[in-house]
Amino acid sequence: MLLSLRLIAPLFLLLAGVQAEFTTKNCKLISGSETEKNTLNLLEPLTNQNFTAERPGDAYVYIFQVCGDAGGMKDAGLVQKEKKDGKVVRIGNYNQTRAIRGSDWILLFYEGGDAYDNHCSKEPRSALIMISCSKSTKNAFSVVLEDNQKDRGCYYLFELDSDAVCPVIPSKLSAGSIILIIVLCCLAVYLTGGFLYQRLVVGAKGVEQFPNYGFWSQIGNLSADGCDFVCRSRGNREEAPTYRGVATEPLGEEQEERDDHLLPM
Ligand SMILES: *[C@@H]1O[C@H](CO)[C@@H](O)[C@H](O)[C@H]1NC(C)=O
Ligand SMILES: *[C@@H]1O[C@H](CO)[C@@H](O)[C@H](O)[C@H]1NC(C)=O
Repeated sequence: MLLSLRLIAPLFLLLAGVQAEFTTKNCKLISGSETEKNTLNLLEPLTNQNFTAERPGDAYVYIFQVCGDAGGMKDAGLVQKEKKDGKVVRIGNYNQTRAIRGSDWILLFYEGGDAYDNHCSKEPRSALIMISCSKSTKNAFSVVLEDNQKDRGCYYLFELDSDAVCPVIPSKLSAGSIILIIVLCCLAVYLTGGFLYQRLVVGAKGVEQFPNYGFWSQIGNLSADGCDFVCRSRGNREEAPTYRGVATEPLGEEQEERDDHLLPM
């Protein structure tokens, strides 16, 4: 029994090893700065996915992974694969990463790719991946351009739309509305619970099923009385017709009377 376990355990480990997941920890930052590390952490939801892109009429397809082996090539985060014969060129390595962050975008650099044959002073290839916030189009990966008509600083530029880099909007619920929601929830629980109790336990019928019916109807009557007292002034009621009489009197006459008063002649 023990022996078989000893035999099987490494097998499990091997299986687990084959399916090892890549995390952003697999990326090696050139600078090792804390800021860039935090920036990389934001890309965690994008790991273990193959992003592919090609330009119309192009002979290549580009494969990108966040901190993982693109196209199965070790340490390569972005590769270019020839469609015809499957030849793979390393564009950039995730063991040479830089990550720069703005308010709603991250610019990822993969450096140390295969050296150019003729262009760019035969320097190593490198990839720039612009990851921008997008809520609508999720994970749309595309090739923008290859800038290689110069001596130094050549790069392949790519774009990826993702909601992983969108700024986090803090909850807009104020303390007041949270309290209101809690009160409404309590009220709902009280009403349904009370209703069920009255109906099933007490056996009430009709409007009597309303929890604490007697108490609430009394409160209702009392507040109605209170309102009647405060809002309605009975005395004015009888005077109302008099006011109406004044209001309907022609204004012209009144005006003349007042003029007589004002003029001393
Ligand atoms: C990505 O593609 C490689 C081969 O190109 C494949 O082995 C791997 O399983 C793919 N990964 C995912 C997450 O689809
Ligand atoms: C990155 O990986 C490549 C390919 O495996 C290797 O040649 C290179 O030395 C590594 N670079 C660093 C800085 O680890």
